[in-house]
Amino acid sequence: MASTGVAGRTWLAAGNNSAATLVVAIMTTIGIIGAGNIGSQVARKAIENGYDVVISNSRGAETLAELVAELGPKATAGTSAQAAEAAEVAVVTVPLNAYADVPVEQLAGKIVIDTNNYYFERDGHIAALDNGETTVTGMLQKHLPTSRVAKGFNHITAADITADSFPTGDPARRALATASDFADASAFVTKLYDEFGFDTVNIGPLEESWRVERDRPAYGIRQTTAELEANLAKAPRTV
Ligand SMILES: NC(=O)c1ccc[n+]([C@@H]2O[C@H](COP(=O)([O-])OP(=O)(O)OC[C@H]3O[C@@H](n4cnc5c(N)ncnc54)[C@H](OP(=O)(O)O)[C@@H]3O)[C@@H](O)[C@H]2O)c1
Repeated sequence: MASTGVAGRTWLAAGNNSAATLVVAIMTTIGIIGAGNIGSQVARKAIENGYDVVISNSRGAETLAELVAELGPKATAGTSAQAAEAAEVAVVTVPLNAYADVPVEQLAGKIVIDTNNYYFERDGHIAALDNGETTVTGMLQKHLPTSRVAKGFNHITAADITADSFPTGDPARRALATASDFADASAFVTKLYDEFGFDTVNIGPLEESWRVERDRPAYGIRQTTAELEANLAKAPRTV
């Protein structure tokens, strides 16, 4: 008997002659494109939660040797294309001005989590974002038309990903937002947030994801589910 979670772990339960049941976990490999503040922190929490990780940057695997040594045997480094190819689920966490370099073919059919934010000081001005005609993650979805993109980890400071997690049900637990045009993609982010120690507020489709972009009330602050819902509701479309 096999049951498959939402793009998550597949649990195979096979009966044998003595009627005992063997349960084998096939872990999900997370491919991480970008190995900076957020990419390295997501890698740490993913490995803590049993995932395999293939991580990449722009300069080559050899420049990630120290990080991979710290992460241990469940981590390897590669090119962006190799991380995308190995990924069952991918995380894109490069500066927004590099999003067009994200491999398209290797991510086809896969869930892709986008951590990106728009900093015109770093990324240059993008008129469609300045005018409120699109969203940061909507741009990545357009670049990856055959992937199922979800927003994730964009409004938490990198250090807090490992420092501010709480068990399910703890009243102090912090909430993070997601958004996607694909239900299984937002469901996967919800599952990952929960495993990492955070509650989820699902904003809905990507066209609403501006609610958690930079300079909106929910951006960067610590909040519970109720507080995050209230901050998302009062966000202005352009800032
Ligand atoms: N820092 C935070 O607390 C935080 C919080 C939430 C969201 N974010 C957002 O998440 C994204 C990543 O932020 P970060 O702080 O982690 O950035 P970062 O520390 O500057 O790291 C960026 C990573 O992307 C890699 N990269 C750059 N261009 C690439 C390309 N063309 N192909 C493959 N890899 C490339 C860099 O590799 P090289 O070093 O080899 O160039 C580096 O490993 C940004 O959009 C940021 O706004 C950041």
